[in-house]
Amino acid sequence: MSNIKGRKCKAVLRKLIPWILLINTVLIFYCLKTPRHKSRGIQEDSCPLNMAKSLKNASVFIFPSSTTENECSPKVNFMFMKTHKTASSTILNILFRFGEKHKLKFAFPDGRNDFFYPSPFQCSQVKDYQPGECFNIVCNHMRFDHQEVSKLLPTDALYVTIVRDPADLFESSFHYYHRAIPLTWSIKGENKLVAFLNNPQAYYDPIAFNSFYLKNLLFFDFGFDNNLEADDLRVMRGIRYLAKTFHLVLIAEYFEESLILLKDLLCWTTEDILYFKLNVRRSSSVSQLDPETRSKALQWNGADWKLYQHFNATFWERVDAYGTERMKQEVNQLRKRNAEMKAICIEGGGAVEAQKLQSRRFQPWQPVGEKSILGYNMKKEIDPKFRKICEKMLTPELQYLSDLGVNLWLTRLYGWLKDTFY
Ligand SMILES: *[C@@H]1O[C@H](CO)[C@@H](O)[C@H](O)[C@H]1NC(C)=O
Ligand SMILES: *[C@@H]1O[C@H](CO)[C@@H](O)[C@H](O)[C@H]1NC(C)=O
Repeated sequence: MSNIKGRKCKAVLRKLIPWILLINTVLIFYCLKTPRHKSRGIQEDSCPLNMAKSLKNASVFIFPSSTTENECSPKVNFMFMKTHKTASSTILNILFRFGEKHKLKFAFPDGRNDFFYPSPFQCSQVKDYQPGECFNIVCNHMRFDHQEVSKLLPTDALYVTIVRDPADLFESSFHYYHRAIPLTWSIKGENKLVAFLNNPQAYYDPIAFNSFYLKNLLFFDFGFDNNLEADDLRVMRGIRYLAKTFHLVLIAEYFEESLILLKDLLCWTTEDILYFKLNVRRSSSVSQLDPETRSKALQWNGADWKLYQHFNATFWERVDAYGTERMKQEVNQLRKRNAEMKAICIEGGGAVEAQKLQSRRFQPWQPVGEKSILGYNMKKEIDPKFRKICEKMLTPELQYLSDLGVNLWLTRLYGWLKDTFY
């Protein structure tokens, strides 16, 4: 009897200890890092256009002289609003490579890989921030605040983000974060997600720890109230605000088309947008939603559904304007180039389970309590001229951030707690 009780007790403790430790460390960190600069008005804090580094400063960059097709020059000042569970890690790798190649200045967080998410973004959270300082790229996870971000970037900066079908996003978020959302711990049964959607009100509480991962996560990431009902006027107002703020909204379901529009907007080359899918879950851990569950997920995430439908519609208007045939050709070319890179770089031709990864360098970050995220092994024999690009394309987000000089002590501490206690 007492043995069983003891074991139960231990199990509960095992669940709680990491959270207590984590909350303590975060609190300490907050106290140490209270913003040093109180906002002194937009004018004084903002980055003057002529101060921003332009590509002409980057000595390594050689303008393509023979490709007369595009007369524009590559855009180097932009914000990528990285949303959760939307293939945004793959985009980040592309942006890291571009920024590194052109020696651009990233506005990075300090101590961790996000800007104190889920707290709203403040420019004082940026590593080495000084009022008036200019950056080229802002791209780490944050809870969006346009005014704060705009203080870091020249006024000609472009704003880009990515959204995903809210039913699939909900499934992904539910699966990835459920061990970090205490609200889900009491859900009984084989399929917690279905049980939750059958009666969300029984489990959900808007003020509970990490509850935003369970409802309208896109809306939350964009800085809005994620508990608004879809027909609330503030939802449409929020969507219109985003449509005005962002120059391009990518759609995860149409990833290649999205990258082509991105390349067009930023005047980049196909080379710049080559990619391997990063941070992908093993397919056995992805549950296919049946039509009924899907419709419940969309209803539960009604604000995100409205947002997604709006931007899906405007996305296809953009594709029409770009040219459907031209888009088809570009997508085919991108696929072909990606396949070539895969053959050049990747051992075995595809992603493998974490246990089969030979190098820590390519080991991706895993969710709490499991190893469901796949990674890649790099080929051992690679033509030296491709070695660098292969390595960069395969490097997961945290390792790449370290390479770019970001200190990740808080993220690493959290990772250590996570791996030690689960
Ligand atoms: C870039 O070059 C311009 C002049 O060409 C200079 O005024 C500016 O300070 C340079 N910026 C940086 C970040 O080096
Ligand atoms: C997105 O737009 C495309 C093109 O209009 C359409 O075929 C597709 O069904 C839309 N997706 C959703 C989820 O509304």
